[in-house]
Amino acid sequence: MNNRSSEYKAIVVREAHGSFTRSVETKTIEQLPENEVLIRVHYSSLNYKDALSAMGNRGVTSGYPHTPGIDAAGIVVDSTDDRFKEGDEVIVTSYDLGMDTPGGFGQYISVPANWIVPLPEGLSLKESMIIGTAGFTAAYAVMKIVEGDIKPGGKPVVVTGATGGVGSMAVLFLSQLGYRVVAITGKKDQHSFLRTLGAEEISGRDRVIDRSNKQLLSSSWSAAVDTIGGDILDTVIRQTTHNGIVACCGNVLGHSLKTSIYPFILRGVSLMGVDSGICLMPKRMEIWTKLSKAWKPKKLHEIYREVSLEELSNEIGLILEGRQIGRVLVNLLD
Ligand SMILES: NC(=O)c1ccc[n+]([C@@H]2O[C@H](COP(=O)([O-])OP(=O)(O)OC[C@H]3O[C@@H](n4cnc5c(N)ncnc54)[C@H](OP(=O)(O)O)[C@@H]3O)[C@@H](O)[C@H]2O)c1
Repeated sequence: MNNRSSEYKAIVVREAHGSFTRSVETKTIEQLPENEVLIRVHYSSLNYKDALSAMGNRGVTSGYPHTPGIDAAGIVVDSTDDRFKEGDEVIVTSYDLGMDTPGGFGQYISVPANWIVPLPEGLSLKESMIIGTAGFTAAYAVMKIVEGDIKPGGKPVVVTGATGGVGSMAVLFLSQLGYRVVAITGKKDQHSFLRTLGAEEISGRDRVIDRSNKQLLSSSWSAAVDTIGGDILDTVIRQTTHNGIVACCGNVLGHSLKTSIYPFILRGVSLMGVDSGICLMPKRMEIWTKLSKAWKPKKLHEIYREVSLEELSNEIGLILEGRQIGRVLVNLLD
């Protein structure tokens, strides 16, 4: 590859004596893995998985030192694959990016061509990363609800973890499509933010935590986008109405689920898994195209804050504490 002598900035997570530190370091392009396409990253974004990688979670990243960042958007600098050429604007999300492959929290990435989505017309690099994996996941979850024939106008759709990255984007998409949205949040001071995104009603987490052991609860939701899991997912399933759809996206409360089978066999509720990581390329392209056209969020500018690489460490701390609001865009242009 050409252009392999330049230095660039990246967040590097290092392990020393069982604890993990992170700082901005200077790296060289030669240190990147040899892959088909070298990309100058312009923007990235912060997702929960990045924070797990940054704190040393071996389920996400097995080897350190490491540069996290599961999202990147930028310009192709060099390519040995005919599908991409110098100057192309591209998006890379998921696969192994930012897990064990140096990720978007560095100004350059080197990736297999099969991971790359050409930037769709109608989206800028910046907009694609305001959306990022969180928005892609939310859109994928909402598509499952739409394709499951849940129509706007019925009972509301509930979104849990509503001020988080996936949750806030889900509120935005659902309200834009005309669904009535009930947003569940633990943040009492963020109700106006959620109303701005289009939530009709905002409730505390107690609304979706029921420990009564009742097999079925009063049917409240036509569908749900759950980003939390655990007791909250269990409750939401038991609160969902006949033929409703529960899209399971996240595991903030852990990875196990204990629930009743009655919502499934008496109400026909469907529990749908959402996995943005291994979503196949045709579906991935379909979702990004939708995001650039019919589903492009009109209020995208309301949902993000922009930070530099140097400011990112603090934001990683906030997301680990469940205190992030909306999306964090990372600017790597400088
Ligand atoms: N399936 C996929 O492909 C996929 C893709 C991306 C992310 N995810 C997963 O989705 C989840 C959310 O990711 P994200 O990037 O949106 O993270 P995030 O921005 O940190 O959002 C998570 C939200 O969960 C709520 N929360 C935090 N602690 C909680 C607790 N103890 N009990 C109940 N609610 C709590 C908070 O919202 P409120 O304060 O508003 O309640 C928080 O903002 C993560 O588990 C992530 O791994 C999955």
